[in-house]
Amino acid sequence: MGHVDVAHVEYTLPDGRALLGDLSFRVPEGSVTALVGPNGAGKTTLLRLITGELRPDAGTVAVSGGLGVMPQFVGSVRDESTVRDLLVAVAQPRVRDAARALDAAELAVMETDDEAAQLAYAQALADWAEARGYEAETLWDVCTTAALGVPYERAQWRSVRTLSGGEQKRLVLEALLRGPDEVLLLDEPDNYLDARPVVRAQLRPVPRLRCRRTRAREPRARVGRGSRRPREVAHDSPR
Ligand SMILES: Nc1ncnc2c1ncn2[C@@H]1O[C@H](COP(=O)(O)OP(=O)(O)OP(=O)(O)O)[C@@H](O)[C@H]1O
Ligand SMILES: [Mg+2]
Repeated sequence: MGHVDVAHVEYTLPDGRALLGDLSFRVPEGSVTALVGPNGAGKTTLLRLITGELRPDAGTVAVSGGLGVMPQFVGSVRDESTVRDLLVAVAQPRVRDAARALDAAELAVMETDDEAAQLAYAQALADWAEARGYEAETLWDVCTTAALGVPYERAQWRSVRTLSGGEQKRLVLEALLRGPDEVLLLDEPDNYLDARPVVRAQLRPVPRLRCRRTRAREPRARVGRGSRRPREVAHDSPR
């Protein structure tokens, strides 16, 4: 199981604005927690602090258990990335690293089919197996079948931008909810989705931190510019 502990975190933006000041909360094991605040309050920044992508200026962030993350951009992917790229991006680090090494080795074999490239490709395949990449593909097959109605073998090379926003979200949620991570950080998980109660029901069994905007937004002038912070950290009791 896992938990998230944020203690006295301060964070100043690159342009010098103080965004978070003395922010503390704990997401205990087995709880579903929603982080609620208006646009620009700092919800996504806080998630990036929890994942370690950003470092706080002061205070500490502690996380136990494997960490799965759904970034806010999922749902609005418009680049050339494929379904496989998206599933790799939200996989555990060892699967992610092995997948990227395998892609690079495959490309090298296609470009320069010499002995060194072939040996590197064989090694990348062995590393993929070692990282339990084939098991990840078995899981992804369940996810693409559930979210898109087609097996992974057929779905993997499809451009993510051809999926609807809801299909993008659903695919990543399937992967994270069925995956091994004990703690999930979901940035606006039910945007685009028309089956929100289903998502909520699925979120119950494990610790979760969800980020969402409030529907009724405060006028920006009323939101203090000096040390804005998310307005609310709401915990659901373990069920
Ligand atoms: N690199 C940066 N340089 C300057 N300002 C930044 C930077 N990154 C984020 N910000 C600002 O920090 C504030 C918080 O951004 P953040 O994305 O965390 O908000 P949010 O609460 O997730 O908003 P939303 O509900 O719209 O997703 C915003 O005012 C944003 O413009
Ligand atoms: Mg955000």
